[in-house]
Amino acid sequence: MGCVTLSVFKADVGSVGGHTRPSHAMLQAVLRRVEQAIDDGFLLDGLVTYTGDDMALTLSHTHGPGAATAHSFAWECFEAATAVAEEAGLYGAGQDLLVDAPSGNLRGAGPAVAEIEFERDPDSRHRPAEVFLVFAADKCGPGAYNYPLYSTFCDPMQNGGLLLNPKLRRGFLFTIIDMESRTADRRIRLEVPERLWDVAVLLQNPDRFAVEAIHSRHIPEEQVVAVSATRLHNIAGRYTGKDDPVAIVRAQGLFPAPEEIVAPYTLGHFVSGGARGSHVMPLMPIAINSAVAGSYCQPVVSCLAFSMDGQGRFAQDYTDLFGDVAWEATRLKVQQKADEWRRQGFIGPTMASQAELAYTGIVQALEHLEGEFTLEEEAEREKVLQP
Ligand code: 13P
Ligand code: MG
Ligand code: MG
Repeated sequence: MGCVTLSVFKADVGSVGGHTRPSHAMLQAVLRRVEQAIDDGFLLDGLVTYTGDDMALTLSHTHGPGAATAHSFAWECFEAATAVAEEAGLYGAGQDLLVDAPSGNLRGAGPAVAEIEFERDPDSRHRPAEVFLVFAADKCGPGAYNYPLYSTFCDPMQNGGLLLNPKLRRGFLFTIIDMESRTADRRIRLEVPERLWDVAVLLQNPDRFAVEAIHSRHIPEEQVVAVSATRLHNIAGRYTGKDDPVAIVRAQGLFPAPEEIVAPYTLGHFVSGGARGSHVMPLMPIAINSAVAGSYCQPVVSCLAFSMDGQGRFAQDYTDLFGDVAWEATRLKVQQKADEWRRQGFIGPTMASQAELAYTGIVQALEHLEGEFTLEEEAEREKVLQP
C-alpha cells in the first residue's frame, strides 16, 4: 500500500487520585475521536492505552512524520481529555500541554512523540511481515532507553543475534540527541560497531544524551528505532512532571527479534525519575493499562508487540509482552531492589543528579541558606585551631 507512518503520541493530561492513571471517561473521550478518524479515513488504524498517568495514542496513517494534520489531531484528543479531567477535578489536568497553540508539530510542545515511516508491502522481498514494539515509560526521562538500546544493538554478550544474523552484523547507525541544547536541535550520528565506545561515552549520561533514532546499515533507509527524546524541563524552564518517554522498535527480519529487544529489561536498570521526578529508581516492566500505585512512584515501562497488515491495520490484536507471567519474577526483584535502595533516602546518588535537581524547589532552599554561610578569616581560623 506504499508508505505508512506510525506515530505514538503520549501525554499526561490528568489522573485520578495523584499521578496514578487517566480516568476511564478521559480514555473514552479520546477513543471516540480515534474511531471517528478511522471511519473518516483520516487514520488507517489507532489504539488508545495508558501506562501510569500517561495516555498513549498509537496511530497509523499516510500523512508522514511530523505532519501538522496528524499532530493537531493528537493535540485535540489531549485537549478533549483535559476538559474531561478538569470537569472531574482530576489531578494535573492538562499537565503536559505546555504551549497555548502548537504550530502543528507537537515536538517541543509537551507531549512525547515517536514516529517512523516505512514501506508496507506484503510482497516485499526483505519485509513481507511488519512486526513492531511500542514501549511507554512513566516516571522517568528519555535516557531510560539508553541502556536497553545499547544492550540490544551494540553488545553481542547481551544479544547473540548480532553474531547470528548477517543482516544485523552489518551494524547500525545511531542518532543521539543532546537534550540540553535549547536553541537548536543538536545531534550526532555514529555507526556501530566502529564507534561503539563513542556511543557509550555519550549514553553514559542519560539525563543529557538520548538515543533518538537507529537505522539499519543493511538497508540504510530502514529506520528501526524512534524515541521521544525531549526534556519537559527545558520546554517549561522548571519541573512540571517527568518526560515519560515512548519508543517504537521494529523487529524481526533485518532487525533484532522481540525477545532480544526486551531482554535488557530483566535487569531493572536505574533511571532518573520516581517521586517528583527527582530520584534514582530501577525501571519495572508492567502490563499495559496499569496504574502507578507503588511506593515512591516506581518508574515503570509497558511493551506491546504488534503485527501490521497490508492496509496499515495493527490494533485489533496485540501481545502485551510485559503483562505476561514471564515478567513476574523480574517485577518482584525490581521492587525489592527499589525498596532496599530507597532506604538511603535523600543522600547522594539515591536522589537525581544535581543537574536534574536544578529544576526543582531545592534550588530555592539552597539560595535561602546562602546568607547563613560565613567565611572565616585566616587569623580567626588559626585561633580556633590553636586556642
Ligand atoms: P508524572 O511526570 O508522571 O506526572 O509524575 C510526576 C511526579 O512528580 C510523580 O511524583
Ligand atoms: Mg502526572
Ligand atoms: Mg507520567
